[in-house]
Amino acid sequence: MPTYQENVSLKAHNSFGMEARARHFVRCTTSAEVMAAVARATREGWPRLILGGGSNLLLTRDYPGLVLQIAIRGIKLVEQLDDAVVVHAGAGEAWHALVMHTQNAGWNGLENLALIPGTVGAAPIQNIGAYGVELDSVFDSLEALDTQAGDIVTLQRAECGFGYRDSVFKGAARDRYVILGVTLRLPRNRPPVTSYADLRAWFAGCGIAQPTARQVCSAVIAIRRAKLPDPALTGNAGSFFKNPLVAADKFAALKVFYPALVGYPQPGGAVKLAAGWMIDHAGWKGRSLGAAAVSETQALVLINRGGASADDVVALARAIQADIRARFGVELEPEPVWV
Ligand code: EPU
Repeated sequence: MPTYQENVSLKAHNSFGMEARARHFVRCTTSAEVMAAVARATREGWPRLILGGGSNLLLTRDYPGLVLQIAIRGIKLVEQLDDAVVVHAGAGEAWHALVMHTQNAGWNGLENLALIPGTVGAAPIQNIGAYGVELDSVFDSLEALDTQAGDIVTLQRAECGFGYRDSVFKGAARDRYVILGVTLRLPRNRPPVTSYADLRAWFAGCGIAQPTARQVCSAVIAIRRAKLPDPALTGNAGSFFKNPLVAADKFAALKVFYPALVGYPQPGGAVKLAAGWMIDHAGWKGRSLGAAAVSETQALVLINRGGASADDVVALARAIQADIRARFGVELEPEPVWV
């Protein structure tokens, strides 16, 4: 049986490095332990917070209930099909370890998602994405504890409501499911995705016309290392804001004032604006408020220079939002989950 601890520091459990404490804390390595912990929280009347790698989380306060760390491990090959390899991973596996495991086995499809911090179980919640690929394109299903029904269910892709950095687990079904494991369907014959600007520039620079998945994986790792602060060294939660969607006519109007503004046309006519470009253009790169700061290398990432309080981060985020609203008439929505 896992040990229930009290008054536990969460500093090492959130990549932003926020000081916050959990009233109760338990680490679960099996589905049965998760079920027991959820049942106990219900019995005791404790609110519960499910924690993976804590890499997409802004802790703004001490947590008054039970923090349940999901540490269910294991990666296994489920099935080799003609057109796909089906792989299952426990929710507590590190996402990047799964990427490298599949790459080393010669199963391609996750290479663009290399080096994303966090766990496998957290990946569907925000439908992680990078360099032209989102999780939902390789997602098959997941198992979760349905805390309303009290049993373990399998949810297929269509039931997860995936969108850009979004899923039912952030919306309608928030707090209902505890993800225990994820099954991916890795396509065998899909050519590597190299359409993203950074990747195109990378391969043009090295003169590689048709990179292999392995080369894409290495390029993504190198690009991320150059641009994104390593959470092991500098506290951060990746992109702090989502890239906002605006109507095509709004984009056209903004382009008149800001010809270099970066936007990606979406199916349906809307345009996804590069929030990092706007924040950078507004002069925020490297600026700080208390010990919270805007990264020098990627303006969409807020960092903890050491000892930042959640109040510092929130004040900086609000100031950026207000400035972007005033300059561009665009609302920036935070991307990490605030607790
Ligand atoms: N840009 C700037 N200045 C900056 C940052 C960006 O001018 O400081 C410009 C870039 O030059 C580029 C555009 O803005 O033209 C977009 O930048 P980038 O390619 O770095 O990507 P992003 O839109 O800022 C998104 C994801 C990242 C993901 C990258 C690569 C979101 C919220 N963020 O960032 O995901 O790694 O694309 O695919 O969609 C995360 O979600 O935590 C995350 C890191």
